Amino acid sequence: MKIRIETGDITKLNVDAIVNAANHSLLGGGGVDGAIHRAAGPGLLAECRLLHGCETGDAKTTAGYHLPAKYVIHTVGPVWGGGDCGEAVKLASCYTRSLQEAESKGCQSVAFPAISTGVYGYPKDKAASVAVSTVKAYFDGRQDSCIEEVILVCFDERTRAMYEKLI
Ligand code: AR6
Repeated sequence: MKIRIETGDITKLNVDAIVNAANHSLLGGGGVDGAIHRAAGPGLLAECRLLHGCETGDAKTTAGYHLPAKYVIHTVGPVWGGGDCGEAVKLASCYTRSLQEAESKGCQSVAFPAISTGVYGYPKDKAASVAVSTVKAYFDGRQDSCIEEVILVCFDERTRAMYEKLI
């Protein structure tokens, strides 16, 4: 498995699955969630309604509709509350559960946004460290995964620099 860093809009990526930083309702919102729903079209919201929400740290998969990606894996990151509320464990769980979902669909490539680092206020450096260490740990010692590439998508150069330092 290879980790690649990309700067730009996750909705444009030609990958098997993109991960959405959603909220409990899974019924859309701002940030990357809004961008994904706009690009995918109304079919995505219709399928999300059937999922009856999602817990923090969990992930659920839908089709990608008008996106280049075949699947959207919706995960709910933690709201930053200072760091003593189990945020790191919940954020790590978002990455692990999303990778499990991608594997269950036979995906070879999966792209992640920087979950929780926008509206949910998770410090970008701490979140980057959880993202990279969790993805690496997931594949540690495993040769049997169908996932060949994980793309960490940054929307700004600061996040990119943090990922580059960690990889
Ligand atoms: N492509 C890649 N990354 C993006 C894009 C994009 N098109 N748009 C934003 N980002 P956020 P959260 C980056 O706020 O913090 C929603 O309303 C952005 O710069 O989208 O997990 C949901 O419905 C930031 O680094 O997600 C929830 O209510 C990162 O994506 C809530 O926001 C995540 O920012 C979730 O908040």
